[in-house]
Amino acid sequence: MEASTYNYKVVRQFAITTIIWGIVGMLVGVYIASQLIWPQLSFNIPWLTYGRLRPLHTNAVIFAFGGSGLFAASYYIVQRTCQVRLYAQKLASFTFWGWQAVIVAAVITLPMGLTTTKEYAELEWPIDILITLVWVAYAIVFFGTIAKRKTKYIYVSNWFFGAYIITIALLHIVNNLEIPVTLFKSYSIYAGVQDAMVQWWYGHNAVGFFLTTAFLGMMYYFIPKQANRPIFSYRLSIVHFWSLNFIYMWAGPHHLQYTVLPDWVQSLGMVFSLMLLAPSWGGMMNGIMTLSGAWDKLRTDPILKFLVTSLAFYGMSTFEGPMMAIKTVNALSHYTEWTIGHVHSGALGWVAMITIGSMYYLIPRLFGREEMYSVKLITTHFWVATLGVVLYIAAMWIAGVTQGLMWRASNPDGTLTYAFAQVLNAMYPFYFIRLIGGLMFFSGMLIMAYNVWKTVSAGKVVEAEIPQAVYA
Ligand code: HEM
Ligand code: HEM
Repeated sequence: MEASTYNYKVVRQFAITTIIWGIVGMLVGVYIASQLIWPQLSFNIPWLTYGRLRPLHTNAVIFAFGGSGLFAASYYIVQRTCQVRLYAQKLASFTFWGWQAVIVAAVITLPMGLTTTKEYAELEWPIDILITLVWVAYAIVFFGTIAKRKTKYIYVSNWFFGAYIITIALLHIVNNLEIPVTLFKSYSIYAGVQDAMVQWWYGHNAVGFFLTTAFLGMMYYFIPKQANRPIFSYRLSIVHFWSLNFIYMWAGPHHLQYTVLPDWVQSLGMVFSLMLLAPSWGGMMNGIMTLSGAWDKLRTDPILKFLVTSLAFYGMSTFEGPMMAIKTVNALSHYTEWTIGHVHSGALGWVAMITIGSMYYLIPRLFGREEMYSVKLITTHFWVATLGVVLYIAAMWIAGVTQGLMWRASNPDGTLTYAFAQVLNAMYPFYFIRLIGGLMFFSGMLIMAYNVWKTVSAGKVVEAEIPQAVYA
């Protein structure tokens, strides 16, 4: 019996934790956004200081929320498109519990101030080892399933997921090579500019492969499914895949413009970033054009609204990114709130919205319901989330450009026009607007949680039969 059904259990587990961790991570986001306005919110408790909660926010939203969403989507998609049950059930279950253990360890150690100090790779070495074990198990389950597939071709989503799994393994291991000195302290084997270069090779490709390539795997499955149309161009999706993967690897130095990194490496990063515009927009067009002939669905289907709007934000942030990589633009944007605006147009607009849309697609199917408990609530969620992102990023753009211009303004005698505190003062109105945008996005997540709760509690756990026909 088991062999003739898909393994939905692990998909269900990851889908539910996606929502739970989304709420936790964004709540911490809202809290740190408030701390930037009211610093006294740390109450002089070291655990609650901004410096410790900020990495908790980034780890929770990227790896706990985004990561759980990716596990759920990739396990669902690889089974459906290969028409077989997941390979190695016990290992799949280990990836779920292991990944949750990593997250809980992060939730405890980061507020304690235990950190390697490398952005997005803050977790200390014992947790790094656990991540490696979970990731190897993930690779065995995923590629094992592909190997025993009953379909002839490997659907394009699986190519994207496969690239992400291999690349994240490589990035995680190389960037975290470190010498442990105690159970909770280690030192990187790299030093100086090499350390910075390896760190941003990692950091940029974490964006490229975790926050982009993997979510494109989601996009290539859920948009055609929800729109009930084939992908606009399968050929373009393959060109998109190879060009994106090839170019992303070289763009990391744009995070280190005007540093001691050799100048030619900085220029290389800039040029490859500009080249990235082409595959990114090719992919976006491919997703959006998939709606050809089905545009009317956008009016009535809020899930499709989430999926398509996420692509629009993907297009926007992948236009903005190459611009910010141009040295002269980066001279203004670097260290300012503009970067934070860019990050969240990608993170909220693209990553969170495609994940939310995909979860709305999955949840009823995993719990034996025709559709979500309330379609109206999905529509409400869509609007508060979209307005929330727009408020967030518009506020940060204006704040960032203002900040950059005020920092560089100088008097005829060469002294600076503005003191640092004056620039900070100019930021407060924008921090408020960002907080309102963040609260809106967060309240959307609460609406989702209620809707999911009602759907799940009225539904039942289902085991879908694997069809004999060769179509997912
Ligand atoms: C309610 C939603 C959210 C709020 C209110 C929020 C708020 C914040 C704040 C206040 C910061 C620190 C900014 C600074 O230091 O100047 C931050 C950083 C960051 N957030 Fe969020 N965030 C939210 C959702 C998300 C999501 C969903 C993701 C990813 C999927 C994300 C990814 C990041 C990243 C990567 C950074 C670090 C950016 C950098 O170092 O340049 N955030 N967020
Ligand atoms: C063509 C695609 C993209 C390019 C060329 C690009 C380029 C850039 C540049 C130049 C920066 C500023 C570096 C600095 O001054 O410190 C940056 C920061 C960042 N971008 Fe992008 N970006 C792209 C797409 C995206 C997407 C889609 C996301 C999110 C899903 C994203 C997430 C981030 C994050 C998290 C940072 C902040 C890193 C940090 O300093 O902590 N980017 N990006």
